[in-house]
Amino acid sequence: MKNKERGQKDSYKVFVIDDEEITVKRLVKGLGSDPELSVQGFILAKDAIKAMRHSPPDIIISDIKLKDGHGLELMDEIKALAPNAIIIFITGYASINQAVEATKKGAFYYLAKPFSLSELRQTLAQAIEHIKSRRQRDLLMERISKDGRLGEIIGTTPQMQEIFKTIKQIAPLDCNVLIKGETGTGKELVAKALHMHSKRKKFPFVSFNCGAFTEELIANELFGHEKGAFTGANSTKLGLLETAMGGTVFLDEIGEMPLSMQVKLLRVLQENTIFRVGGTKPVKIDCRFIAATNRNLDKMVREGVFRQDLFYRLKVVTINLPPLRERRDDIPALASHFAKKAAKKFGKPIPQVGKDFIDGLMDYPFPGNCRELEHMVERAVALTRSNRLTAEDLPPDLWLLKEPEKKKDATSLKKLEFEYIMDVYRKTGFNQTETAKILGISRTTLWRKLRQMNVQPQKHQK
Ligand SMILES: Nc1ncnc2c1ncn2[C@@H]1O[C@H](COP(=O)(O)OP(=O)(O)OP(=O)(O)O)[C@@H](O)[C@H]1O
Ligand SMILES: [Mg+2]
Repeated sequence: MKNKERGQKDSYKVFVIDDEEITVKRLVKGLGSDPELSVQGFILAKDAIKAMRHSPPDIIISDIKLKDGHGLELMDEIKALAPNAIIIFITGYASINQAVEATKKGAFYYLAKPFSLSELRQTLAQAIEHIKSRRQRDLLMERISKDGRLGEIIGTTPQMQEIFKTIKQIAPLDCNVLIKGETGTGKELVAKALHMHSKRKKFPFVSFNCGAFTEELIANELFGHEKGAFTGANSTKLGLLETAMGGTVFLDEIGEMPLSMQVKLLRVLQENTIFRVGGTKPVKIDCRFIAATNRNLDKMVREGVFRQDLFYRLKVVTINLPPLRERRDDIPALASHFAKKAAKKFGKPIPQVGKDFIDGLMDYPFPGNCRELEHMVERAVALTRSNRLTAEDLPPDLWLLKEPEKKKDATSLKKLEFEYIMDVYRKTGFNQTETAKILGISRTTLWRKLRQMNVQPQKHQK
């Protein structure tokens, strides 16, 4: 929905699902007089699901026990088809426990029967408030500010600014995208941003890790199965590609996909149809594919372990996410972002990020990229007792993890001395006696210097 369309007079699509026709009629009539609401009633869950696939509602009012399904099971399906929909369960006395269970799983509210229309209206008003504030937050998130962020992605460096431009440019184009980058560089975040800036954003974003399953399971997860396809297949199950109808499918770790599955996936990309496992008739799908990998796919194609035709289909556009060590100037902004995020998570006040804290991070190679930085900041926020993160809040052995060759920009004599000491200390397997001997200083001096450098004594590893 365009922002302007939302305007002052927002309207909210409401589905009412109940197997008692009379209840459905009563609610549709009762709520239908509200100009803010457009209400549709359903007696069967399957009809509601069908309509949902076509156009997801904002609010769903559903009975827990339905003729053709159970509310709790329905919830999983609703979450895939209408991830933003607010669910209000109505329930008879006998199923109150299940309704409570449902709210734990994410349902917004439950109303015990009998309830008056005005009670329902009150609950609806709360739900609408909730949607309004969420829409406002989404708008803010969507707004691309010039100060180095695109939604949730932080990046002030020219490399990241360039990536933001590419995302904005290609998001609406509906083409397949391949995102390459080391672990923790933000591939999934970029995939979500592409989805959020596309016309598919109202539909689901589903993520699938190609490395986490065996071949049979991949087929079952992606394509679903027909009833009776194998022992235990008691009913037809929709696969991910069907439930993502209209949305975006994120194929994570595409390099791990077995060759035989690659052929099947290629066919899906070419024909936009799937066959459910055990099924004989093709089912049309409509989704955009975004794939990600931290492996060298070009090399895998050369070696014959990744199909070239699939590779070309997937990488209509490629986004290369550079490792954090190649865009160190992003570290300060990322660190404050992660500090805010962690403070919120732990319910603590947002701490300031001290210069010495940042300095301590600036020449660390970050093999785990942004994720590793996020963990470091999270740890610091969890442990700090002050309102400012300082070098003392960094992991004590951070220096030990640094690679000496990477630190060519050492400026002061002290720093050079420190690097030299650490180099020897590391090479001796953290043997203080031997290190002192090589350096020509006493053990006590070495111990004092290590302490000054905030290096914790290490267990001798040889
Ligand atoms: N530029 C960024 N701005 C803000 N947060 C980021 C950024 N890059 C990564 N993150 C955060 O770092 C963590 C890892 O990101 P993400 O899961 O997207 O990485 P990935 O490349 O998919 O990693 P992997 O290859 O291990 O799956 C997430 O918590 C994400 O929010
Ligand atoms: Mg990932």
